[in-house]
Amino acid sequence: MKVYILMGSPRKNGNTASLLDPFVSELARDNVEIETVWLYDKEINSCISCRVCQKDWTKFGCFHSDDVGEIFDGILDADLIILATPIYSWYCTSPMKALLDRLVYGMNKYYGEEKGPALWEGKKLSIITTCGYRPEKAADLFEEGMKRYCKHSKLEYLGMLAERSLGYNHDFMNTDKKKNAEEFAKKIYELCQNE
Ligand SMILES: Cc1cc2nc3c(=O)[nH]c(=O)nc-3n(C[C@H](O)[C@H](O)[C@H](O)COP(=O)(O)O)c2cc1C
Repeated sequence: MKVYILMGSPRKNGNTASLLDPFVSELARDNVEIETVWLYDKEINSCISCRVCQKDWTKFGCFHSDDVGEIFDGILDADLIILATPIYSWYCTSPMKALLDRLVYGMNKYYGEEKGPALWEGKKLSIITTCGYRPEKAADLFEEGMKRYCKHSKLEYLGMLAERSLGYNHDFMNTDKKKNAEEFAKKIYELCQNE
């Protein structure tokens, strides 16, 4: 099982990274390969709606030559995609949003003369997020957006782990959050085994 983590936090030692750590430790086992991509370290340009990607259904085919091509390949090689992001303005951070725009066209060949395939059909996706407000008032819109994104893209949505930060002068991690992250990893692993 290959897990591809798209990490959308700019803070290498921030809250989202701290929540991801116990999740990754719990998920790691002999038959699980995990790769993490830090999106703020990558060049991810915005989609310009040129639809060059719709011409050839066998490849990404994007106008931009930046780091999204390698991320596209990484996703096609994976079984499970994890979107790890702090909530910024009720959604994911901007490099992740730019990536989601590039993929919703580059992966889904729906927008040319004829409707083509979703190249990532059947892959699984889940969310790990942190936020300042209570998760049900902070991460709800991003989760709803991603549920629709998954349905549209023929991806299987597996659920979200969301934890709240009480501010930069409070310790973020505690035993409850660590336990929740481990439980979430077990749940996701089980869901990936039940085909
Ligand atoms: C620019 C910016 C926008 C934010 N917007 C929200 C928001 O809309 N809702 C929320 O609950 N928290 C918001 N936050 C708080 C972060 O989601 C929270 O502190 C998060 O845990 C930071 O994760 P990190 O340490 O991985 O960067 C925002 C933080 C920043 C810097």
